[in-house]
Amino acid sequence: MCGIIGITGREDAVQGILAGLKRLEYRGYDSAGLVTNDGRDLRVTKRAGKLENLTRALDSQPMTTSTGIGHTRWATHGAPNDRNSHPHLDPSGRVAVVHNGIIENYQALKAGLGDVRFASDTDTEVTAHLVARELDAQDAPDLLLAVRRVVAQLRGAYSICFVAVDDPTTIVVAKHEAPLIVAHADGVGYCASDVAALIDHTRDVAALLDGQIARISPEGVEVFDVDGNEAEPHRYTVDWDLDAAEKKGYEHFMLKEIHEQPQAVHDTLLDRHTSPSPGEPPRLHLDELRIDERELARIDKVFIVACGTSLHAGMVGKLAIEHWAGIPVDVEVASEFRYRDPIVDPHTLVIALSQSGETVDTIAAASHARDQRAPVISIVNVVGSTLAREADGVIYTHAGPEVAVASTKAFTTQIVGTLLLGLYLAQVRGRMYATETADILTRLQQIPDAITQALNLDQEIRELAQRYHDVDYTMFIGRHAGLPIAMEGALKLKEISYLHAEAFPAGEMKHGPIALIEPGTLVIALAPAGHVFAKMVSNIQEVKARGASILAIGTDGSTADLKEHADHVLTLPEPPHELAGPVLSVIPLQLFSYHVATLRGEDVDQPRNLAKTVTVE
Ligand code: AGP
Repeated sequence: MCGIIGITGREDAVQGILAGLKRLEYRGYDSAGLVTNDGRDLRVTKRAGKLENLTRALDSQPMTTSTGIGHTRWATHGAPNDRNSHPHLDPSGRVAVVHNGIIENYQALKAGLGDVRFASDTDTEVTAHLVARELDAQDAPDLLLAVRRVVAQLRGAYSICFVAVDDPTTIVVAKHEAPLIVAHADGVGYCASDVAALIDHTRDVAALLDGQIARISPEGVEVFDVDGNEAEPHRYTVDWDLDAAEKKGYEHFMLKEIHEQPQAVHDTLLDRHTSPSPGEPPRLHLDELRIDERELARIDKVFIVACGTSLHAGMVGKLAIEHWAGIPVDVEVASEFRYRDPIVDPHTLVIALSQSGETVDTIAAASHARDQRAPVISIVNVVGSTLAREADGVIYTHAGPEVAVASTKAFTTQIVGTLLLGLYLAQVRGRMYATETADILTRLQQIPDAITQALNLDQEIRELAQRYHDVDYTMFIGRHAGLPIAMEGALKLKEISYLHAEAFPAGEMKHGPIALIEPGTLVIALAPAGHVFAKMVSNIQEVKARGASILAIGTDGSTADLKEHADHVLTLPEPPHELAGPVLSVIPLQLFSYHVATLRGEDVDQPRNLAKTVTVE
């Protein structure tokens, strides 16, 4: 979604801003712009479309300045054109703003300004007008005070940054329900919506907390609360290096991230089972736990809340928690959770799953649960993100930065995270012998090698993609742990190739969806060996009988049978545990989507209309 980078204190601020915006491209955007402040003028340059358009525009008017803010916009209010791109100015051109999020009361705020002309259709522009009016009303203009007064009037979600011509080396920023990072290194002040934009400059950063406002200058960063008192942000050190954010010879980030899965899963499993003190038997533990284990032992119901790919990982988590911990689990789309009346009380555990830890729908679902005094455990990839900070317990998926919009390594590590949580809940509830837990954990260590074997199917999958990349409609079917993977396979295909794809529980086909099958329809069936395999074979026969072309994803123990019914069979190694099967069976589907999309010439890493981190409702 939108990206922000602000720099003050280096002569080549424009180059730094452009480099930062480049690092934020992966978030998804449809226009880009920046403003520079030389103390005489605010100069805004902005263009619809890709960052190259902005860079080209700047080539014709080179600028040297030490202070500026840049933005990539993902349109919400107003079309993605030059006019609506950020930054926005007040009518006198003295104040500029860039903003991520949505100002929900912008129309009321505009009305309050009286008969004023606006230069854009955005919800953002009004804030520049308001800050300029505040400055006009002050005897000694103070940008921090003006911003503080304005943000007190805002409703909605924002990370927002202002510069004013009267204060040429200062950037003032405010945060509410949208991430904003600040930093200071070597006499330069920075702000950004995402650490990826700052990693070239420093690893020591601070995430502002909701309601905090910061003044950034070459001298340092000062953080305040809404009342103007000094406040402490969440300080941390980024633990991944620049290499992790580069393509390292792969054509796309998505392909690189698919191939990083053995390492990502290995890292996620590492050091989970250790002795609390010498001589004591090993126990599974969470990365962060701010809740008494005895409280978790009394849990009688679980909700898993998440969006998109993370939701699919949550569906696997449901199977694991019910199987191992014996607690009923509901998996719910996060954006629906708080708008009904979920029965949540202090004995309900809510698990929030998110790669970014900044998905606003998931954050809102988790805080709704906390309002009802339910403990929340998050499974997140980004250390220090909002969901990690606000949960009572955290499991980090050590996938490293995921840049491609289409989530791959975050998904497989999330599944591993939910398996660990299922075992952990079984442990605190006394549902498993320590030896059983240890045995399962030992077996899970085999997953990285098994993923490597699955990746070896790449050439075969590419040939299948060659054959099927023009089909208009693909149906995915699965049962039990295969169903979330069928859903994930369909999501991956539609989000990067823009082809219609749907997933169904294989047993539901005969209740309606089978009517869609006609000769040549591609059906991708998840059919590993296991307790539902025979049922899957029946469902495959049903669609085959109606003319579908079947691509079956099997395992060593199931492919001999599958070859009798399917047109193509991809054979995966047998997983070390049936519940770990999804980590393997999703690999061919990730590769299939990737190859279909590249063969169709689509922008794999930045698919149309999508954003990496969805910070608006
Ligand atoms: C995945 O390929 C998607 N881009 C999307 O569904 C994503 O999983 C979803 O927006 C949730 O994001 P999160 O994991 O960061 O919360």
